[in-house]
Amino acid sequence: MKILCLGAGGFIGSHLSQRLLSDGHTLIGLDTHSDKVEDVLGHDRLTFLEKDIRDRAVDLDRLVREAELVIDLIAYANPGVYVERPLDVFQLNFTENMRIAEACVRHGRRLIQFSSCEVYGKTAVAILRGALPDPENPAYATFAEETSDFILGPLNKHRWIYACAKQLLERVLHAYGLEGKLRYTIIRPFNFIGPKIDYLPGEAPGPPRVFSFFMEALLQGRPLPLVDGGRHRRCYCYIDDAVECLSRIVANPGGVCDLQVFNVGAPGNETSIRGLAGLMRRIYAEKFAAPGDPIPETEDVPSERFYGRGYEDSDRRIPDISKVRTLLGWEPKFGLRDMLELTMAYYVNGRGPKR
Ligand code: NAD
Ligand code: UGA
Repeated sequence: MKILCLGAGGFIGSHLSQRLLSDGHTLIGLDTHSDKVEDVLGHDRLTFLEKDIRDRAVDLDRLVREAELVIDLIAYANPGVYVERPLDVFQLNFTENMRIAEACVRHGRRLIQFSSCEVYGKTAVAILRGALPDPENPAYATFAEETSDFILGPLNKHRWIYACAKQLLERVLHAYGLEGKLRYTIIRPFNFIGPKIDYLPGEAPGPPRVFSFFMEALLQGRPLPLVDGGRHRRCYCYIDDAVECLSRIVANPGGVCDLQVFNVGAPGNETSIRGLAGLMRRIYAEKFAAPGDPIPETEDVPSERFYGRGYEDSDRRIPDISKVRTLLGWEPKFGLRDMLELTMAYYVNGRGPKR
């Protein structure tokens, strides 16, 4: 199949591009950066366009028309950016993504749109502030595509512009689908992790996600910053598991993915961010530090100091993956320790992406 992959040079995009090429597809990749895909740049079934989607000299209409499938990963995907540059987040993650979707509508092309688990927002426990009888019950934090409500924070917590932009995009795609004008599949990733996830702080503009902050702290011997004490929880999914699922969504056997939204994540891999820091410290001590080297401690940092005003967190999110299990027979395999060892080894061995 001839696939147009927008955002092919990012974390997910680079792993997915490699997999799609080995699945036998022909790929047109587009991204502002190509360093994460340099190992496949010479592939004879890959054309890579190092371009900005906002550049009107890019003939988006032609690219979409000439592809059989469009995969859209382009976004600002790091929370630090949602706080620093909320308008840019809206303009890229909604307005530019809408242009891509509308080109798919015009040319009758199938679209796989990357959304986010962030659309679910906070749990009922977060807004009822402990008034529930059993606040630790995971049912409150387990989100299902067809039934869970979306709970976002107030306007002055502008971190939510990302979730809101993604949510609005999903709703517009759904509306096009209802009118029979677009064959879409929406993907809501739950915290994928793996080699190439992000640059370390200072290696590229803008703040990365938590793994890179912790990795950098371990490498530099500085405290690992725990935002608001690291009490919030995430479920981490290894990129190889995720890419296996994405490859099945691309294959779309019998059209089962048409007009569907899928959670993709690993519900068994839940940890608090404090727990993540603790596990990374232990792995670093056991596998990577020189004997006797001190392992840096953690340090609590208020979110306002770390991110600035306008930050608010998702307290807890666990994917209900019954739908991908049933429709695609997919199941994540990697546990938290294994995925962290593999990802940390990539950065410790100096193979982290350099820009
Ligand atoms: P990423 O930042 O590594 O990838 C996004 C890519 O888009 C980058 O390579 C970036 O260079 C590119 N891009 C940004 N602006 C562009 C522009 N103007 N023109 C061309 N390219 C541009 O992030 P990722 O983790 O690979 O995420 C990919 C998608 O999945 C995003 O839509 C993100 O919101 C979504 N997502 C990811 C996760 C996750 O676990 N990684 C979770 C939820 C949602
Ligand atoms: C991110 C982004 O919103 C998206 O890429 C995506 O939608 C989502 O992950 C996902 O991967 O599913 P988040 O999990 O909040 O959201 O991003 P991180 O920056 O990795 O933060 C995770 C947690 O660690 C947050 O509680 C944050 O406050 C905390 N954190 C972050 C620290 O405690 N220390 C740090 O140094 C950085």
